[in-house]
Amino acid sequence: MIHLDRPTREEFDRWFALSAERQAKDRAWVNGTDPETERAQLEAMIPMLLPNGMDTPNHAFRIARDETGEELGFVWVGVAPGIPADTCLLFDIYVHEAHRGRGLGRAILERMLDSLKADGIRNVVLYVRADNAPARALYKKLGFAEDEAPTETRDFQMRKSLSEDADNRTHTFERQHVVVDGLPTSGTILDIGGGGGGIIGLIAGERVIAIDRLKEELEEAPAGPLKIVMDARDLQFLDSTLQTATSFFTLMYMGNEDHQRVFEEVFRVLAPGGRFLIWDTVLPPRTNEDEDVAIFPVTVELADGETISNNYGVRWPSEGRDAAYYQQLAEAAGFEVLSRRAVDRHVFIELQKT
Ligand SMILES: C[S@@+](CC[C@H](N)C(=O)[O-])C[C@H]1O[C@@H](n2cnc3c(N)ncnc32)[C@H](O)[C@@H]1O
Repeated sequence: MIHLDRPTREEFDRWFALSAERQAKDRAWVNGTDPETERAQLEAMIPMLLPNGMDTPNHAFRIARDETGEELGFVWVGVAPGIPADTCLLFDIYVHEAHRGRGLGRAILERMLDSLKADGIRNVVLYVRADNAPARALYKKLGFAEDEAPTETRDFQMRKSLSEDADNRTHTFERQHVVVDGLPTSGTILDIGGGGGGIIGLIAGERVIAIDRLKEELEEAPAGPLKIVMDARDLQFLDSTLQTATSFFTLMYMGNEDHQRVFEEVFRVLAPGGRFLIWDTVLPPRTNEDEDVAIFPVTVELADGETISNNYGVRWPSEGRDAAYYQQLAEAAGFEVLSRRAVDRHVFIELQKT
């Protein structure tokens, strides 16, 4: 499983130097000049393109890592002068030499495209050297089309529409109306994946510790909870220290390979008698192989009658996931199932560490 993380400043500096060097070489080949000339031109352009360096808005620099944290490569996408606001340019994608030949370039790019799509970007363009046949083939497989160009062209512009692609691949399920009950009225609540809509934090405010792997998801969530960047597969709490944990439409965002670990971690940090409350989707097995994105519009009914609507969208695993799937993982981690209620296409499961 690949993670795309924001680089630290030191990682960004190292990485950006490598990227600039590679881009200068490519441009020299394309323009028939030499890398030093191109390097000087790039250096003159960078303050305009990236006035705030790695923090420049509308640019995403991401380091790809595997589950052990090892760095696999990096990717940079962002806006560029002269291209429309709903279009991003893929400035660079790179896989470290030791990790090549394993399809990681494709995996990194797919991840990045998913995240651009979620941010409302409709088109992605890139430039590729005419002599880089493997890269051109990969981009084609991912749905990029080459613009018409004269035969002597030394770099091709390729583009992909994310919206057309999304329409064909997306299955939108019927809206789920979710009532959040069962939360304790006092005491701290650990909310797993509490970024994004941050519904549990909205309901229980300062009593919530919202943890999420992604800082930007926590920043987006409403204020109130104590927000901590933390991986649910490796909770930084002592054993048997919490009374309540929740997961509100978060398990759907994790790969099957992570679920067991997360159940075990939550079990470990809960005190005996502590409860783990789960709201999640019931995803049927996929019937159409091409429809691999599932969107669940969810309306949450809060206690005061107010409602909040969110769309929760994920890659749809072909085998689907139902309530029995989650129950089996919970029991394997040691939990007792206190109650399980399926409504339409979502489920509420109440677990206890006995
Ligand atoms: C979109 S939110 C789910 C909805 C959210 N709980 C709400 O109330 O709106 C799912 C979150 O789970 C986070 N996530 C996925 N895997 C995780 C992990 N292993 N540890 C912590 N957070 C994780 C994602 O970063 C994402 O922000």
